[in-house]
Amino acid sequence: MKVSNPLTSWKARHNTATDHNGTTQHIEKHEGYDDSPLPRLTWASFNMGILVSMGGFIFGYDTGQISGFLGMVDFLDRFGQRHADGTAYFSNVRAGLIVGLLSIGTLFGALIAAPIADKIGRKISIQIWCFVFSIGMVIQISSTHSWVQIMMGRWVAGLGVGALSLLVPMYQAETAPPHIRGALISAYQLMITFGIFLAAVFNYAAERHQAGKKASWMITMGLSFVVAAILGFGIIFFPDTPRYNYRLGKTEKAKQTMSHVYGVPENHWSVHHELEEIRIKLEAESEKGSSFHEWYSMFKAPKMFYRIALGMLLQMFQQLTGANYFFYYGVTVFKGTGINNSFVTQMILNGINFGVTFYGLYIVEHYGRRKSLMAGSAWMFICFMIFASVGHFSLDRATPTNTPKSSKAMIIFACFFIFGFATTWGPMIWTICGELYPSRYRAKGMALSTASNWFWNFMLAFFTPFITGDIDFRYGYVFAACNIVAGIGIYFFVIEGQGRTLEEIDTMYLMGVKPWQSSKWEVPPLELMDEKTRRDIEATNPERKVKVAAPPDAHVSPSNGSHHDASDKELESAPLH
Ligand code: BGC
Repeated sequence: MKVSNPLTSWKARHNTATDHNGTTQHIEKHEGYDDSPLPRLTWASFNMGILVSMGGFIFGYDTGQISGFLGMVDFLDRFGQRHADGTAYFSNVRAGLIVGLLSIGTLFGALIAAPIADKIGRKISIQIWCFVFSIGMVIQISSTHSWVQIMMGRWVAGLGVGALSLLVPMYQAETAPPHIRGALISAYQLMITFGIFLAAVFNYAAERHQAGKKASWMITMGLSFVVAAILGFGIIFFPDTPRYNYRLGKTEKAKQTMSHVYGVPENHWSVHHELEEIRIKLEAESEKGSSFHEWYSMFKAPKMFYRIALGMLLQMFQQLTGANYFFYYGVTVFKGTGINNSFVTQMILNGINFGVTFYGLYIVEHYGRRKSLMAGSAWMFICFMIFASVGHFSLDRATPTNTPKSSKAMIIFACFFIFGFATTWGPMIWTICGELYPSRYRAKGMALSTASNWFWNFMLAFFTPFITGDIDFRYGYVFAACNIVAGIGIYFFVIEGQGRTLEEIDTMYLMGVKPWQSSKWEVPPLELMDEKTRRDIEATNPERKVKVAAPPDAHVSPSNGSHHDASDKELESAPLH
């Protein structure tokens, strides 16, 4: 099996340019600049990757802990309601609100974080949101008997989680050298699943050793502070992103940061090239109208309505795969199957989710998005059909211990399901949303699709207890049906992005390439594109306007006749061989 080396492909692209005939040429030197190869990884970028990924960990850890709390004796005793005989229980409304309010908080956090970060900076934003998150934890941990306090605490913590879920990838994308950006985003995804897994491990250990005591849920909850503190204090030692500093006019600082993180001298070609990109994009931004106008024009821009709707639907279907049914309510679900320690089951499911995400990160580049997602949908459909059928028809739901084989079968198919999710729809939907929008509208498009993820996340968290109360494990059929619809949707609407530059993907959407033909489609050189497509490309990618119209006075090499200065400007639109 062949694994593509991101550094090689990046270097290949950065050393090529298209000449007048549309032939790709290799450019060896950029005169006046240091052209030495970029180090693969520097300590600075490694440390940044680890530290900033803590944001992903917080996201996952908070998602993962609640499932266990709902099954803990002390948590139930303090925050549940009472039956006439004095036994404690959670009503559907209460369970749904406690679980779901975090998602409502994250929805808001994700929507407001970006404009605030534009005003005050990425670094200070990360610190502030870590603080907000910690306040949310204090509200929860200090609650003795008020479930409303727990719910509101989850809402406040959610604001922090949602904001960090947007800021962390933004910080990484704006600071990391291009060839490790993909890997860093993957590290972020891994940290989410690692957080979910560790929450289950701590829940298990705490319930085992502290059952019936407040400490059973407080230990897991309290450990969130440690991570928030590491991120909040640790970021002090890191500079703000080059893009943000450049925007404030601190160009020297931006250059220093890049040279430090990239591990090259300040006059390195890649530093110069990235700074140029930043300058051009900022110039284009300053020509934009009011922010209201930008939002309005986004929906009018070529193929943008389609792509916004697609991103939001993909995130909706990611939630409707049913994964969070297990992550949020797993302990309760497995209690219902008569498993004696549902905490162990939860730990196994979350462990699988974490472990196989590594494999998911590999297959996304190896088999492509479309094939993997369609296969994932079919797989998850089968798993849910079996899970639901066994749960409804074969399991003795009143006394599950009478049907131990059915319980086991359900756990096995839940594990199979998680395997399918974590290798396909879990990580890949984030990848697709990251490459779906043109540069001008990328941040807004991603904010909308992320908001859709959290909205549906809330809907499921809130309504699941009601639905399972009414239709028991037949709920699985609903997810099975959604998985089939989602798989068909991928076939008809999603363009294959494997091995393509962001600009190529954009061009394919603009040219209306049929998604099912997209993986084999050859991108024509810009010169051969029709006038309308070129205009559409310019409207949604301000920096490419300059590329298309690369000045004729650009440095021309006598030997090969290609544009040296324009090389990197043109190459993004050049066909890749
Ligand atoms: C989803 C979350 C889910 C997590 C599980 C993410 O991609 O958006 O809702 O809890 O995967 O690993």
